[in-house]
Amino acid sequence: MTTNDLAGIAKAMVAPGRGILAADESTGTIEKRFKGISVESTEENRRAYRDMLFSTKGLGEFISGVILYDETLRQKSADGTPFAALLGGNGILPGIKVDAGTKDMAFCPGEKITEGLDGLAKRCAEYVKLGAKFAKWRAVITIGEGIPSAACITANAHALARYAAICQASGLVPIVEPEVLMDGDHGIERCEEVTERTLRETFAALASQRVVLEHMVLKPSMVISGKDCAKQAGVQEVAVRTLQTLKRAVPAAVPGIAFLSGGQSDELATAHLNAMNKIGRAPWALTFSYGRALQHPALTSWKGSAGNVAAAQRALHHRARMNGLATLGQYRAELEKDLGKAA
Ligand code: 13P
Repeated sequence: MTTNDLAGIAKAMVAPGRGILAADESTGTIEKRFKGISVESTEENRRAYRDMLFSTKGLGEFISGVILYDETLRQKSADGTPFAALLGGNGILPGIKVDAGTKDMAFCPGEKITEGLDGLAKRCAEYVKLGAKFAKWRAVITIGEGIPSAACITANAHALARYAAICQASGLVPIVEPEVLMDGDHGIERCEEVTERTLRETFAALASQRVVLEHMVLKPSMVISGKDCAKQAGVQEVAVRTLQTLKRAVPAAVPGIAFLSGGQSDELATAHLNAMNKIGRAPWALTFSYGRALQHPALTSWKGSAGNVAAAQRALHHRARMNGLATLGQYRAELEKDLGKAA
C-alpha cells in the first residue's frame, strides 16, 4: 500500500474486527485527564503514557489505526523508535488530529466552531512526511434551548468539507467527525433530529467541496438520550435509531463509520456498537474510534507509575478486544470477566 492509496487506507481503517484508538488529546485535554489520576502533565509523562498504550502487545489484532496529537507524532518510544514506526511495525496506521480546536462562535451564543484551516495543506504535507496515513477534524454541535442554529451547523459542515478536501489532495484519508454532544436533558428523539440534520448538511458540504466519499471515514456520535435526561433509551433503541438516522443521511459509497464514545461508559459504548452490528445489513462497516471508552481503564490503572504498565496494558488490550468483537456483533457482557486472561 503506498502513501497515496487512500481507498486502501480507508478500507484498512474499518476492517472487520478492528477499530481506531483516539489518543489525540490536545495538551489541555490530556492535562485534564492526568489531573484525574494526579499525574503532572509534563512532556515526558505524556510520552510515557502514550508509550505504554502503543507498546501493548497484540494491540494490532483489534486496532487498525491510532489518532495522534502533533506532539505525539514527533515523540519516540523508550528505545528510540518513533511512535509512527512503532505503530506501523504492529500493523497499526498512524493518524493525526489536524484541527486547532473549538472556539466560541461569533453571534451564536453557546455554540462552537472548529478552527484550523489556515495553513492546513502545508501542515498535511509535513504530517505525510512524518508517516501519517489519515487525519481527524472534530466539529461540535450542542443541543440546547434554541440551538443548534442553522449558522452553526452550516459553518461546521463547511469547515469539515474544506478540511476533508485538503487532506485528500495532500494524500491523507480524512476522518470527518461531526459530534452532536450528549450534554443536556433532551430526549433521544431530539438527538435523532439534530444528528440527521447535521449529517445531511455535512454530506451536502462534502459533495460541494468535491470530497471523494470512498476515501474518507465518518466519525459520528450515536443517537442517544441526553446525559441528564430522566428517561434513558435502552441499547436496542439506540442501535435502531442510530442505524436509521445514518441510513437516511450517509451515502453507501462511504466505506466505514467509526463512532466516537463521547462520554458514554466503557461497556455501554461497546454494547451499542455490538447491537448495531447484530442488526447488520448496513452498507458501510460499523466500528469504533473511541478515546475515553478505550483509554479510561488503562489510564486509571497506570496512574503514572512504571510499575503499573503491565496492568494498564492488560486493561487496554481487554477493551480493544471487547470492541473488536462488537464490530462483528460477537460481544457478550459475560466476556467482561475475561480481563486478566488476555495480553
Ligand atoms: P471519545 O471517544 O472520548 O469521545 O473521543 C473520541 C474523539 O476522538 C473525540 O474527538
